[in-house]
Order: sequence, then structure tokens, then C-alpha cells
Amino acid sequence: MREESLLSPTAEDEIEITLRPHRLDEFIGQDRVKERLWISIEAARAEGRSLDHILLSGPPGLGKTTLAGIVAAEMGTTLRVTSGPALERPGDLAAILSNLEPGDVFFIDEIHRLSRVVEEVLYSAMEDFVIDIVLGKGPTAQSIRLDLPRFTLIGATTRKGTVTAPLRDRFGIEEKLDYYRDDELAAIVTRSAGILGVDITADAALEIARRSRSTPRIANRLLARVRDYAVARADGRVDREVADQALRVFEVDEIGLDKVDRAILEAIVLKFGGGPVGLGTLAIAVGEEPETVEDAYEPFLLQVGLIQRTPRGRIATDLAYRHLGVDKPGQPTLL
Ligand SMILES: Nc1ncnc2c1ncn2[C@@H]1O[C@H](COP(=O)(O)OP(=O)(O)OP(=O)(O)O)[C@@H](O)[C@H]1O
Ligand SMILES: [Mg+2]
Repeated sequence: MREESLLSPTAEDEIEITLRPHRLDEFIGQDRVKERLWISIEAARAEGRSLDHILLSGPPGLGKTTLAGIVAAEMGTTLRVTSGPALERPGDLAAILSNLEPGDVFFIDEIHRLSRVVEEVLYSAMEDFVIDIVLGKGPTAQSIRLDLPRFTLIGATTRKGTVTAPLRDRFGIEEKLDYYRDDELAAIVTRSAGILGVDITADAALEIARRSRSTPRIANRLLARVRDYAVARADGRVDREVADQALRVFEVDEIGLDKVDRAILEAIVLKFGGGPVGLGTLAIAVGEEPETVEDAYEPFLLQVGLIQRTPRGRIATDLAYRHLGVDKPGQPTLL
């Protein structure tokens, strides 16, 4: 597969790119999503046509961008990458669309952040493979119609709820990625260790998996930190004990919460009396953007039952009190 990014890569993505699976059979977990995508890919290939547009949703780090690359690779085409916020004006989108080759996979990350005007240009591009470009302004403005090659749009979003209905309707395939099981994450850690040349035992891989907040990106990051620790403080090999020690140093707790996760729980429990507390107030208390708290941290805390969302705000559950080792007011620990 050729891959052409229309965005400048960030430094920390380098390891991620190295570890990214390129073929569907290297992509671990999400079996039902994989099966359905495989069916669509095979059918499109058999009939020599482009694949339907695909909307991928789910929390950060579960493999949306990876899957977009895999789809392009399996279709034997080029992946063109951009993101909702990068497409500022309709002209930005038109410039990319008019340079697509037939069958290309056009990937728009954070598609829920497209501006209205850009999104409207996308409608006709997705549906009829044409765009109307307006030249000039006012009464003399002219519109010209541009034919586009048949391409496949893959949109990714961490917030499917904020994708507008007309946009959603134009995707033939919608897939939601779910959190991974520990055995799947252990397989991902083992695969990544192989690529990075890290000598790791099966129980150490499982330990890293258990503390990865059910997320492949976090599993790979923890593996990289544990490897650093093994090289700097041990003989380079990663066994269960080395993994435990390393994760303690990097302040990842037994259930995988990092400093920010714990700060969120502690804020709700200690500063706001267990809640309810609004997202904005909570975000300020932990020094993060509300969107980061909502998209990157809360989904996992909700998933494991440490917090709940109520109409009046976020509340800490009994499990959160137990996890922090704090007595819930009115429910003293029995001695
Ligand atoms: N199923 C998987 N098998 C193996 N590795 C995976 C899998 N899913 C994700 N990864 C790894 O996790 C990393 C993060 O995945 P990816 O960038 O695709 O997530 P994303 O859903 O696009 O996240 P974001 O919402 O932040 O853009 C990738 O570098 C890849 O190595
Ligand atoms: Mg991504």
C-alpha cells in the first residue's frame, strides 16, 4: 500500500506507525467487524468496484486509523489522510478530492469536527461523486460542476453522536470498535514485542495487557516504557516482576489507571463530595480540556463502573471509593 499523509506527522506517532498492522489478518480482535469488512472488501474486489463509504467510531486508540490503512492495503489502493479540523474551507476539500485516483481510500479523521460548509461539499462528493465549485462572489458568481473518480471515504470519529444525520446517512458501512479483551491485548503486546525485538514472557505480556485500559495504543505505550525500564534497570528481558516494577515507576496502577484517571476520580470524590459535578468544572479541576476528559478518559471509567453520568453531572461509584481507599460518607468501613 502507498500511504500519503496530508497532515504533518507528530513525533510520538513514530512508534505507532512501526507497530501498525498492515493486513486484516494481522489486526487482532474485533472479530465481527473484521469479518464484515472482509466480506465487503472481497465483494468489491470480485466485482472490480470501489468499496462503500465506511464510518468507524469508538474511543481513541482502538484501531480506527489502522483499519483505514488496512482497507486501502487490502483494496490495493492509496490511502489519503486528512482530518476534520484540517479542512478549513470547501476549497481545501475540493483540492484533495480533485486529485484522487479511482478507488483511492480517502480518510477523514475526527470527521465530527468538519465545518458545515465543508460538510455540505462532501455530501455530493460521497453520493454522486461530483462537487460544485463556486467561482466569484455576489450576483456574478458562477458554479461549475467537477466530476470525481469513484473513491471510498472512511470517516473516523470518537463521537458518533455528534456526526450529523445527513452525513451519517451517506455511509454504506458503519462499524463501532469496542474495548479489547485482555487476551487480545496480550496478543498485541506479544506481536509488538516481536517487532521491537523485546524479549518478553507470556505472563508479563498479560500483565501489561491487564493494565492497558482495554486499549491497544496504551498497551503498546506501556510495552515501550517497560522495555525502557528493562534495559535501564535490568538485563533487558521483560518478565512479570520487571513489568510490575516498571509499571509502578510509571505510576500505572493495578487496574491500569494513570495519573489523569486517578486525578479525575480523586477530584470527584475528594473535591466534589462524590458528585454530581459538571464536565467543565471537573476538567478545570484536573487541568485538562473538557473534550479530552470526555473523549479520552471518561469512556473507560464509565465502562469499568468507576463513574456514572447523570443529568446533573458525573458521580463516583462505590467502586471508585474502594479503588481509592476512601470511605464513603455515611458508609464507614466496618472494622
Ligand atoms: N487490533 C489491533 N491489532 C494490533 N494493533 C492495534 C490494533 N488496534 C490498534 N492497534 C495499535 O494501536 C495503535 C493505535 O491505533 P489507531 O491509531 O488505529 O487508533 P485510533 O482508533 O485511530 O485512535 P484515535 O481515535 O486516537 O485516532 C496503532 O499504532 C496500532 O499499532
Ligand atoms: Mg486515529
